Amino acid sequence: MYKLISLTYLLIIFNNNFVLTDFIPTSRWGANAIYFNNKIYYGGGYLPLYPDNWRGTQPSNEFFSLDVPPSFNLTDRSKFVWTNLSSQSTNLIPFAFSSQCLIEDKIMMFGGDFDKYLPPANTTLVWFYDLSSSSPSWVLTKTTGQPNDLESGSLVYNNNTGNIYMWAGKLSNKNTLLTGGASPEDLPTTMNIFNKDTNVWTSLNLTNAPEGRYDFTSTLLRSGIIVYIGGQLTDANGFADMSQINMYSTTNDTWLPAMTTGGSYVPSTRARHTAVLSNQSNLIFVIIFLSIEILKPNFLSFFFVSQRRSYYCIWWSYRY
Ligand SMILES: *[C@@H]1O[C@H](CO)[C@@H](O)[C@H](O)[C@H]1NC(C)=O
Ligand SMILES: *[C@@H]1O[C@H](CO)[C@@H](O)[C@H](O)[C@H]1NC(C)=O
Ligand SMILES: *[C@@H]1O[C@H](CO)[C@@H](O)[C@H](O)[C@H]1NC(C)=O
Ligand SMILES: *[C@@H]1O[C@H](CO)[C@@H](O)[C@H](O)[C@H]1NC(C)=O
Ligand SMILES: *[C@@H]1O[C@H](CO)[C@@H](O)[C@H](O)[C@H]1NC(C)=O
Ligand SMILES: *[C@@H]1O[C@H](CO)[C@@H](O)[C@H](O)[C@H]1NC(C)=O
Repeated sequence: MYKLISLTYLLIIFNNNFVLTDFIPTSRWGANAIYFNNKIYYGGGYLPLYPDNWRGTQPSNEFFSLDVPPSFNLTDRSKFVWTNLSSQSTNLIPFAFSSQCLIEDKIMMFGGDFDKYLPPANTTLVWFYDLSSSSPSWVLTKTTGQPNDLESGSLVYNNNTGNIYMWAGKLSNKNTLLTGGASPEDLPTTMNIFNKDTNVWTSLNLTNAPEGRYDFTSTLLRSGIIVYIGGQLTDANGFADMSQINMYSTTNDTWLPAMTTGGSYVPSTRARHTAVLSNQSNLIFVIIFLSIEILKPNFLSFFFVSQRRSYYCIWWSYRY
């Protein structure tokens, strides 16, 4: 008993938020995660009201961080520590399926599925969280020309243009977790570009934009090209073709002609997967996890984009 008390006491002393760290967030769906300075900032999402199904749900505005030590081995779990930062997220409307990105040392969040929690105004759906502040909190921010609420879309920041790119996603006006599905008018193909210095949005309806989609991944290459992989299309059209890769150039604001991938392997179609850019080359790791159509948890797919001569895209997979 004495040991337990002194451990708690130590945690309080070493944690300047004065928050006990001996807890783990409850499970959830449609949460957000951003990595910054050896921490993963994590929050929101639908919480199940019952332990074994999603028939009753409640969106959340909880906010946490998870310490990720710069080096560790996989048996060394004690260095991964959750901290409850929910006292800093009281300005967030309970949400799920929002879009977030990191802009230098700020997290930007746009829209999402707020279920029964109506936002204060549909024209004010941007929040910022300043990671460098000594007393950070989520701040609702008025921007100019803000697009309509979108969920299951994406925000991508390019520090060379100073812009954040928000393409596709699903217009949010219904509880989509339970009803699902999308018709063509729910899936705009507008490229919405937000400038971090002016707080102004510019919307481009480009004629050769790919078909609208949601629950896809978007990855910025060092060349300034955003690669969009997978996702769901309209109910009638199913899932995006994984052999056709869509790329947007942030240097001249054009869609490149869709690339057909090479190699003998093309992953099965999927949504709600994740993609991570390797810092070795333009190698994107697509982690097949919670993939809607077919769950293949023992597969890791790799996607390589070569820019040596012309763009060349190839998939391969690793079974472990
Ligand atoms: C992993 O880290 C733990 C704790 O630091 C250490 O005891 C263990 O020997 C390490 N294991 C390996 C395989 O390095
Ligand atoms: C996190 O902190 C908030 C208050 O800021 C509290 O209401 C909530 O219960 C805490 N959550 C957990 C899991 O401890
Ligand atoms: C926001 O938009 C939704 C869907 O169109 C509408 O039901 C709701 O009343 C709007 N909320 C506000 C505060 O204008
Ligand atoms: C953009 O970020 C990369 C690292 O992510 C860095 O190497 C580069 O210098 C940055 N460019 C500018 C203009 O800040
Ligand atoms: C782009 O298209 C959408 C409909 O998909 C429309 O609501 C919007 O006004 C258009 N924006 C511009 C700048 O043309
Ligand atoms: C736009 O830039 C990309 C490289 O980012 C290039 O491949 C493409 O040819 C350019 N398109 C136009 C129309 O200039």
